[in-house]
Amino acid sequence: MELTEKQIKSFRELGYIFIEDLFQTDEIELMNNEAKAIYNIERPEVVKEKNGKAIRTVFGAHTFNNIFSKLARHPRIIEPTMQLLGGEVYVHQFKLNAKMAFDGDVWQWHQDYATWKNDDDMPEGLALNVGLFLDDVTQFNGPLNFIPKSHREGYIDSSHDTQTTSYALWTINEETISELVNKGGIVSPTGKAGSVVFFDSSLVHGSPSNMSPWNRTIVYISLNRTSNHIRKFTRPEYIAHRDFDPIKCLNDNCLQEKV
Ligand code: SIN
Ligand code: MN
Repeated sequence: MELTEKQIKSFRELGYIFIEDLFQTDEIELMNNEAKAIYNIERPEVVKEKNGKAIRTVFGAHTFNNIFSKLARHPRIIEPTMQLLGGEVYVHQFKLNAKMAFDGDVWQWHQDYATWKNDDDMPEGLALNVGLFLDDVTQFNGPLNFIPKSHREGYIDSSHDTQTTSYALWTINEETISELVNKGGIVSPTGKAGSVVFFDSSLVHGSPSNMSPWNRTIVYISLNRTSNHIRKFTRPEYIAHRDFDPIKCLNDNCLQEKV
C-alpha cells in the first residue's frame, strides 16, 4: 500500500495521518477475539490499571500470538511506514491498549520519543506509531488527543511521572503544553474500528480516561528505522525489543491465512 504525496505532506506538516477503513470487519473480529483471550493470561507483559483489575496495556503480543505476529508484518502497516521513515524498519514496541469501559485511565501528555530516548537511548526520533482501532473510537471513550505540529519541536524536556497511573511515563509540563496548544490546537482522530492513525514519535499526545460504557482498544505498533536502533538495554525486552532485523512484509490477506 502506497501513501499519496498529499498524505506524506500532511504527515510532515501536522505529524499524523488518519486513514479510515484500512482493515475490514472480519480482520478486526479476528484480532478482537485474540485480544480478549490474551487479557485472561497472567504474564508480565499484561499490565493492569491502578485498581489491579482492568487491563491497561499488553506488551509484545506479536512475540507470543500468531495473529498479532502477522499484524506486525502486515503490508498495510509496514509499507506506508517505510515510505514515511525512508527505509527499513523493525518493531521497537507493540502494545494492545485496552482502555476499558469505566476503568480506562488517562495517558498524560507526552512524546513517545522522550521515553525511548531517556529509557532506551534511541538516537533520533526516526520512529513512528501505527495505531489500529479495534473498537469504534468516539469523543466519549477516551480517544487520542494530538497537538498538531508539535513534532516539529523535536525532543521536549520531560519528567518521569511514576505516580499518576500504573505505568511510568516521561511527561510534559502544563506550561509547555499550553504554549504548544496555542500554536497547534488539539485534534482527536475518531472513527470506526478498522481505522488507522500513523503518527510521528515526537508528536505530543495523550488521552483522557474512559468513563463511558464502551471499551476503546487500540493496537500500537511502534516502528523504528533499523539504523536508529536503541543503545541501552535496561527495560525488559518485551517493552523495548532487541531484534533489529528489517521486517519482511507478508501478503495483504495474511491475517485470514491459516498458517
Ligand atoms: C500512548 O500514548 O502510548 C497510549 C495512548 C492511548 O492509548 O490512549
Ligand atoms: Mn504514547
